[in-house]
Amino acid sequence: MQRPIRGAKMEMGLESGLEDSEAASPQPSAMVELEGVCMPHEIKENWAAIRGFQARPDDLLICTYPKAGTTWIQEIVDLVQHGGDLQKCARAPIFERSPYIELFPPKPLSSGLELAEAMPSPRTLKTHLPVQLLPPSFWEHNCKIIYVARNIKDNAVSFFHFHRMNKLLPDPGKWEEFLENFVAGKIPYGLWLDHVRGWWEAKDRHPILYLFYEDMKEDPAREIRKVAQFLGIELMESVLKHIVHHTTFESMKANPMANYTTVPSFIMDHSVSAFMRKGTVGNWKEHFTVAQSERLDNIYVQELGNSSLNFRTQL
Ligand code: A3P
Repeated sequence: MQRPIRGAKMEMGLESGLEDSEAASPQPSAMVELEGVCMPHEIKENWAAIRGFQARPDDLLICTYPKAGTTWIQEIVDLVQHGGDLQKCARAPIFERSPYIELFPPKPLSSGLELAEAMPSPRTLKTHLPVQLLPPSFWEHNCKIIYVARNIKDNAVSFFHFHRMNKLLPDPGKWEEFLENFVAGKIPYGLWLDHVRGWWEAKDRHPILYLFYEDMKEDPAREIRKVAQFLGIELMESVLKHIVHHTTFESMKANPMANYTTVPSFIMDHSVSAFMRKGTVGNWKEHFTVAQSERLDNIYVQELGNSSLNFRTQL
C-alpha cells in the first residue's frame, strides 16, 4: 500500500530525513475538507494543534494565498528587520527564517509549530490560512500581520506551475483542468476569492498591512517603505535601495537561501518549472484563452465588483 507523503512539507528544506523509498516515488497529498475549505489532509489531521498555536504579542505574521508572493515579502521583511544585512539574511533558507506554521512533515522532520515554538522572539511566521481559520491567539495578542494579494489570473497560473513542479501536490493535469479546480476552490487553501476578501475585511479591525503583488512590482521602494513603517523601523535611503536591489526577481532567483533550490529535486523539480518562474504581472496572457479570461472577469465583477478591493492584471 502506498503511504501518502504529506503535502505541506513541500515548502520545507528536506535535505535529510526522507527515506529513499519515499524519495523514489513521492505521493501527492490527498485533499480533504476542513471547515468547508479544501486542504491537504495533514493539516486536518493536526488541526487541534494548529488551532491551539500560541502566538506571542511581538510575533509578525506573513499571510498569503499560495503563490501570491510569500517568499518575496518574507525576504523583504527579513532584510528590513536586519537593516539590509545580507549575511544575516543568508543564515538559513527562507522557510527556516520564517516558519510555516501549518506545515506538518513526517517525523523526524520538525513541524512548523515545533520550529516556531523553538524560535526566540521576536518571530516572523508564515501562514496561508484563510482568515476564519487563523489560530485565535494571533487575534488575542493583536499580532501584526502582513498580507500580500495577487491578481486572480497570475495567481492561478503560478499555482498551476507550482503543482507541476511540486511532487507532493496532486498532478494539476492540463491548464484547463487545473483552472476548473481553481475556480471551484478544489485546491489547497480553497477559493482565492474568499481568501483575499476575508483578509481585506479583517484589516478594518486588526493591524494588517495589506499589500498587492502588482504594487510591489510597480514600485518596490514605495511598498518596502510601507513595510518598514508598519514595523516601526526607520530605513536610510541607501539601505532601502540596497533592499530593493536584493529583492528583485533576478536577485532572489540567484539566491539559494531564497529560491528553494535547497529542497531536493524529488520534491521540487525545478527542471519542470522553477520556483522563481517568471515573477511578472501579466504572464496569465500566455495561458488564458479569451473565453477563460472573460469567465474570470465575470466572476471577479460579480464577487468583488461592489467591494473596495481592486486588483490589476497588468501594469
Ligand atoms: P510566478 O510563478 O508567476 O513566477 P510564493 O512565494 O507565494 O510561492 O509565490 C511565488 C511567486 O512569486 C512566483 O510567481 C515567483 O516567481 C514570484 N516571486 C518570488 N520572488 C519574487 C520577486 N522577488 N519578484 C517578483 N516575483 C517574485
